[in-house]
Amino acid sequence: MQYDFDEVIERRGTGALKYEALLPRWGRDDLIPLWVADMDFRTPPFIMEAIRRRCEHEILGYTVKPRAFFEAIRDWVDRRHGWKVNASEIGFAPGIVPGISSAIQCFTEPGDKIMIQPPVYHPFAMIIRENGREIVNNPLILENGRYRMDFNHMQEAVRGCRMFILCNPHNPGGRVWSPEELRRVAEICTANGTLVVSDEIHADLTLPGHRHTVFATVSEQARMNSVTYMAPSKTFNVPGLGSSYVICQNPDLFAKYQDFVSGRELAEGHVFAYDGLISAYSGPEGEEWLAQALDYIQENIRFIDAELRRRMPKIKTIMPDASYLVFLDCREMNLSQKELVEFFVDGARLALNDGSIFGKEGEGFMRLNAGCPRSILERALSQLEEAYENRGFRQQQSQN
Ligand SMILES: Cc1ncc(COP(=O)(O)O)c(C=O)c1O
Repeated sequence: MQYDFDEVIERRGTGALKYEALLPRWGRDDLIPLWVADMDFRTPPFIMEAIRRRCEHEILGYTVKPRAFFEAIRDWVDRRHGWKVNASEIGFAPGIVPGISSAIQCFTEPGDKIMIQPPVYHPFAMIIRENGREIVNNPLILENGRYRMDFNHMQEAVRGCRMFILCNPHNPGGRVWSPEELRRVAEICTANGTLVVSDEIHADLTLPGHRHTVFATVSEQARMNSVTYMAPSKTFNVPGLGSSYVICQNPDLFAKYQDFVSGRELAEGHVFAYDGLISAYSGPEGEEWLAQALDYIQENIRFIDAELRRRMPKIKTIMPDASYLVFLDCREMNLSQKELVEFFVDGARLALNDGSIFGKEGEGFMRLNAGCPRSILERALSQLEEAYENRGFRQQQSQN
């Protein structure tokens, strides 16, 4: 079956965060929303079908986690990532951020240090702070348009850290980390008694030509010293379903974690969470839909990169290895962060994520969500070009 990713679907009036938050956050709602990480593609028909089937029973009562939920995850991570796990090593999580927040509370104490790698997905810093723990930064290095880890700095920074929250693949840096890089992380963290919490929510969205490596698979050290979070939410565009999961192959750590979340009633999903995941992970349709979605996303990213190079060369694309989030390097425009945000919002009428929310290393950057029909990107780039011209950037370019 050929899926139609070009279809533009009206999302206003459906409670979609991407739209509903425009007015409260940016003070205007005439913006094209290219920010929060959900896609504007129709939820795949096989997931909708499973949910409709469940609805037809017409009793939405308390629901147990079916064995098929764990088996579907076990088979999926093996098939997609070559990761062999037992169903008993998998637990339910209502979301990745609530899951990581639980891990922070379960494995660390107030005042403990937790390391992250900015510019990085901003809720990491938020939940460390909100849980009364201390943030230790190990910033990534941007070199020739590609991020890499700073291991020399990490060797020092990690000392005394109880936990490291790894973003694998990295958001917004777009990197799929190599087995060698992950092995170094495992060595350094194990040597320092630092537990690695690996957020692998974007793993399935690794783009053609790249391969995701599950952190826990790179060495025995990594397997025993990690807790991994994954979900179908980004993969199949169902973040509203709340059907994420945690995998931990260290029995002592997993028992401690499971006790923590069950004691707080955080280990149960709602009535649609399980069937949604099972339908996405179990049949050939899921694989087929995903392959087509990834090809479409890849083309969207290539389109953005080519058009920016041709029409707005002061804005540079950090080409992602995975997912549909594109970090735009706007430093050549020489604007303050406030001016840059105003340029996008009031000049181009686009709502992107302000790069500085990911850490001060994100200043001069904006994050664009390319998970939408190409016609929306075409319109967005035209608006951006108009603002670019109005600000005199085109003129500056031809004078250079
Ligand atoms: C790296 C990363 N982790 C977690 C999330 C959100 O996960 P959840 O909505 O399941 O809490 C996102 C969403 O953008 C993300 O990019």
